[in-house]
Amino acid sequence: MENSKEKISPLGRDADRAPSVCADVKARRTDDTPPSEPAVSARGFCVNYGSFRAVKNVDMDFARGRVTAIIGPSGCGKSTFLRCINRMNDFVDGCTTSGLLALDGVNIFHKRLDVVELRRRVGMVFQRPNPFPKSIYDNIAYGVRLRGRIARSALDEIVESSLRRAALWDEVKDRLSSSALGLSGGQQQRLCIARALAVKPEVLLMDEPCSALDPKSTARVEELIGALSGDYTIAIVTHNMQQASRVSDFTAFFYEGNLVEFGRTSDIFTNPKCEATNDYITGRFG
Ligand SMILES: Nc1ncnc2c1ncn2[C@@H]1O[C@H](COP(=O)(O)OP(=O)(O)OP(=O)(O)O)[C@@H](O)[C@H]1O
Ligand SMILES: [Mg+2]
Repeated sequence: MENSKEKISPLGRDADRAPSVCADVKARRTDDTPPSEPAVSARGFCVNYGSFRAVKNVDMDFARGRVTAIIGPSGCGKSTFLRCINRMNDFVDGCTTSGLLALDGVNIFHKRLDVVELRRRVGMVFQRPNPFPKSIYDNIAYGVRLRGRIARSALDEIVESSLRRAALWDEVKDRLSSSALGLSGGQQQRLCIARALAVKPEVLLMDEPCSALDPKSTARVEELIGALSGDYTIAIVTHNMQQASRVSDFTAFFYEGNLVEFGRTSDIFTNPKCEATNDYITGRFG
């Protein structure tokens, strides 16, 4: 009975000691190194809630202008890791980090880093659409106004271009002063994406952005992710394997806080190097 935990864990006894479990995956990572400098890099990055380590020694890069999916079973640290990229973890008492997490080579946790500017550069979209109880126009204008005075015509342009970028303009252009809460769930999620885009971010973090949406709205958000990639570096957490394979260029598989395997999405889904990855993507656990 002593070893019962070992049997349950698809990573076996070395799960805690060996953050990147497969040596050959490490080797492959070098081959997959994107040509330009990564937008976001983690090196030996750890996150703790008090004495509990939720993210363990993660080494990975988010390629600039590409979509990276983060997959793994519930509780494996996906959201914890994602939220560190714009320091949302600052709001959690007892949450500490170690190692390096960098945006454009600059330590995100540097004590002199301007966190407001970091959050402008790294936008976030959550699982449940969370529009403000304001008009559609004011939702998009909100973050822009916070940055300083702006002429109405310039603001109008930003609102229109952000809504166009989020593929929502045609549906809302005649009701900009109506409450955003009157939009459908799928429209609200595209509004939240438009709101994130309005302050001209470089990175978009999406934590299960489609999990509260119907299939049609999910398809629209997936199309949108495709249209935005290239101009934005996108990190998306998803429990939907088909979605990860459809929308992402790279996939990271997490298990119990470890980054188990990371590589091109086509390789991860057709030829995973680790048994645990294979078991997860084929639905054998999680
Ligand atoms: N605020 C917190 N305080 C203490 N522990 C936390 C906190 N938030 C998350 N955890 C723990 O950290 C671990 C990772 O949680 P996290 O939310 O990152 O997982 P996840 O992979 O996003 O899961 P899910 O797929 O269910 O969203 C879990 O064991 C969770 O219970
Ligand atoms: Mg989560």
